[in-house]
Amino acid sequence: MSLLVNTVFLILVGQLNMLQALLPITSNDMATEETPSFLCKLKFLQILDLSDNQLSGPIPRCLGNFSNSLSVLKLRGNNFHGTIPFEFPKGNSLRTFDLNGNKLTGQLPKSLVNCLKLEVLDFGNNQIEDTFPHWLGSLPELQVLVLRANKFHGSIGRPEIDASFAKFSIIDLSFNNFTSKLPAEYFSSWKAMAIGNKNKSEAKYVGDGYYQDSVTVMNKGLEMKLVRIFTVFKAIDFSHNRFEGEIPEILGNLGSLIVLNLSSNSLTGSIPPSFGKLTSLESLDLSGNKLAGRIPPELRSLTFLAVLNLSNNLLEGLIPQGLQFDTFTNNSYEGNLGLCGFPLSKRCEDDVVVDHSPPMETEDSGSEFDWTAMSIGFGCGLAIGVVTGIIILWNELEYLVRTIRIKYLISRKQSIN
Ligand SMILES: *[C@@H]1O[C@H](CO)[C@@H](O)[C@H](O)[C@H]1NC(C)=O
Ligand SMILES: *[C@@H]1O[C@H](CO)[C@@H](O)[C@H](O)[C@H]1NC(C)=O
Ligand SMILES: *[C@@H]1O[C@H](CO)[C@@H](O)[C@H](O)[C@H]1NC(C)=O
Ligand SMILES: *[C@@H]1O[C@H](CO)[C@@H](O)[C@H](O)[C@H]1NC(C)=O
Ligand SMILES: *[C@@H]1O[C@H](CO)[C@@H](O)[C@H](O)[C@H]1NC(C)=O
Ligand SMILES: *[C@@H]1O[C@H](CO)[C@@H](O)[C@H](O)[C@H]1NC(C)=O
Repeated sequence: MSLLVNTVFLILVGQLNMLQALLPITSNDMATEETPSFLCKLKFLQILDLSDNQLSGPIPRCLGNFSNSLSVLKLRGNNFHGTIPFEFPKGNSLRTFDLNGNKLTGQLPKSLVNCLKLEVLDFGNNQIEDTFPHWLGSLPELQVLVLRANKFHGSIGRPEIDASFAKFSIIDLSFNNFTSKLPAEYFSSWKAMAIGNKNKSEAKYVGDGYYQDSVTVMNKGLEMKLVRIFTVFKAIDFSHNRFEGEIPEILGNLGSLIVLNLSSNSLTGSIPPSFGKLTSLESLDLSGNKLAGRIPPELRSLTFLAVLNLSNNLLEGLIPQGLQFDTFTNNSYEGNLGLCGFPLSKRCEDDVVVDHSPPMETEDSGSEFDWTAMSIGFGCGLAIGVVTGIIILWNELEYLVRTIRIKYLISRKQSIN
């Protein structure tokens, strides 16, 4: 008789927030891998991470019934199905709740509104059918909301309270069925995306001091796993929905955004010139909409923009020339019949007459130049900081993962012997 060894990793973290035990649990249930029932009896658990196992069936109700000390609950990457059973009591300590990559259905649990310490909420890649959870706007610490690839629908609407989602760093609503206009009123309440962390030594990671959170985002056309979420990383991904109407001018106020992806919607009107103020932007994707008119020359000043995608729209006229626009190739513009000029092979008629550079200031442009130089200097440091931060921490996690795997192999050997 073969003994199937199922392994669940349990990270138990004690009062001092230190890793105290790493327990592989074995069971010989051949058919399904069920959540071990003794988990329900652990009363002082602070962190429960059952990510990337083969657990299936409904989520055991009792998992939501830990003492109020539970701060991290991660069931990511399993095969859980059914609805989300949790009832979160008032005064709980939950900071990270991650159910990404299961087969969960139904609606979001309304008792999440009691999780006043919540920082990271990830329901991505499930089959949840609900409307935009505007009622989470009152959670004062919420920084990351991922609803990617579910069946959310309807309009986002407008905030019901002031400073709704004021601490948002990352919002990913991509691959849902959201409709109606982009939520201009919300954009003006997402203060953290507007101000950012100007003081670099104050920049922190989400979960500092209790846990390393991670989240996966699309950036520059690549799926990127942020092992620890650096709070200066700000991203909005609304791609693959059915948003319509014009892009609100006020989106240009979110000056610390690094990623903006509005691709594959039905947006109309023109690209707002206010996007020239998104000076931290590194990745801008507006492809697959119905945007018309000219590309605003203000975008030339986005000195960190590494990826620009305006493909498959109705844009026309001369592509802005010079500065950052020298770095984009013609696949940033494909599928816009009316665009002309470098890097497209189509030349503009009356090329020379059409000059879209911003109106010249009077001769004393000296101060303006200085300002640009300063902002480039600052921005460079920041961009490098973000990138090295991610790489270094990525390596740290690799180490952690290896350690767990080694222990797993040892314990497996022992149980086979
Ligand atoms: C949750 O815990 C309370 C008290 O600790 C208990 O009375 C209740 O039955 C538990 N509920 C579930 C679903 O385990
Ligand atoms: C989106 O909603 C429309 C109707 O409201 C429906 O026909 C369509 O199947 C939905 N798409 C998805 C991906 O859920
Ligand atoms: C930046 O933050 C650090 C730590 O809070 C503080 O010591 C320092 O004075 C701040 N610097 C500026 C320029 O505000
Ligand atoms: C924007 O989102 C779509 C869909 O998620 C993705 O395929 C694309 O690569 C993203 N664009 C960028 C520049 O990351
Ligand atoms: C822009 O998006 C289109 C799909 O809409 C894709 O084919 C193209 O390669 C993308 N270009 C860049 C520069 O990412
Ligand atoms: C895009 O650039 C490539 C190589 O630079 C060129 O062969 C191609 O004709 C260009 N396409 C258009 C539409 O300008």
